Amino acid sequence: MYQIYTIDEMATKKTKAVCAPLTEAEPLRRSLRERNLLRDDVEIVKEGGCIYFPVKNIPDELYSYKVVTKSFKLKAAKPHCYKDRLKLSKKLMGELPTSYDVVGAIILIKLPKTLFHYRKEIGKALLETHKNIRTVCLIDPVSGEFRTRNVAIIAGENQTFTTHIEYGLSFDVDVETTYFSPRLASERKRVADLVKPGEIVVDMFAGVAPFSIMIARYAKPKIVYAIDKNKEAVLLAQQNVKQNHVLDTVEIIHADANDVEKVVPKKADRIIMNLPFSAYNFFSLALSIAAQTCIVHYYDIIKEEDIEARIDALKKIAAEHSYILADLSIRKIKSYAPREFYIGIDITATKHADVA
Ligand SMILES: C[S@@+](CC[C@H](N)C(=O)[O-])C[C@H]1O[C@@H](n2cnc3c(N)ncnc32)[C@H](O)[C@@H]1O
Repeated sequence: MYQIYTIDEMATKKTKAVCAPLTEAEPLRRSLRERNLLRDDVEIVKEGGCIYFPVKNIPDELYSYKVVTKSFKLKAAKPHCYKDRLKLSKKLMGELPTSYDVVGAIILIKLPKTLFHYRKEIGKALLETHKNIRTVCLIDPVSGEFRTRNVAIIAGENQTFTTHIEYGLSFDVDVETTYFSPRLASERKRVADLVKPGEIVVDMFAGVAPFSIMIARYAKPKIVYAIDKNKEAVLLAQQNVKQNHVLDTVEIIHADANDVEKVVPKKADRIIMNLPFSAYNFFSLALSIAAQTCIVHYYDIIKEEDIEARIDALKKIAAEHSYILADLSIRKIKSYAPREFYIGIDITATKHADVA
């Protein structure tokens, strides 16, 4: 019933194996796996209508199958982490970043100066350990009015354009000419889940429009006005609106948010102000387009000890517009620097009854 024989190949490990026709292979594989008989160091082979399972030993009952001794290809050791692929001094290994952003098929990584010399090896190690990544970019922090960053490609394809998938939505992004942070995904979904049917929403600093599109797809707003001053971001936002099938609900506006009163024709039930460091300077303008009651999602980067003062200042601006701010909920979304946070504040602004 069975036969033991040897097949010589260029493979690196010779071992006993059990052979089964394709139709019987899956139950056999499961049974071998459950009994911890399957070897993990070599590849299973499919050949001539049969599957060969390399095994550690052969209990009697397996002799009803064809048993062979055969050369198998050794499995390549798969490092779990890019660090496993690098040979640096212990001190430098300790300085390798443990986190980085993945935007579509691009990794964005920051490196300390001490590792700059090794950037290409680090990029190659990241490429080798992430099968869906095509490019690795070394990045500086975002800067300037458009919140973009200097990027240097350190491994892979020479491109900064990619498509990022988030909650089933696809966002075209150019990581060099536009702002996009994958870390805000759950914040965007949280905000979308708060939107009530029929709301008029204004996304004052929309970028490639991830907040606007998330809202249009996961809620039922009447309309979302998505404003951005960066032409590149606006072009991608228009593309993103089309490819996520929300052309009817999201209107992309290429404008300066300073002109928000001119470019937004309706009063807003909800305003998203994702422009950390500067949103404060636009709060007065935001209230000028706010409905009687308006929810503002205000984002800032601020030191913990300055949060209270910032809120008092926002209340003062609101008072000048006859608005009262209530239900302020402050969330630390991510840390930015020691004791400095990217915060989100949900604010309910209501116009005084006596001056409404
Ligand atoms: C931090 S990004 C946020 C982008 C987007 N909301 C997101 O979550 O990906 C801020 C955006 O505001 C835009 N921006 C900066 N100043 C602006 C202004 N005065 N008017 C309109 N957009 C502006 C930038 O171009 C950038 O796309």
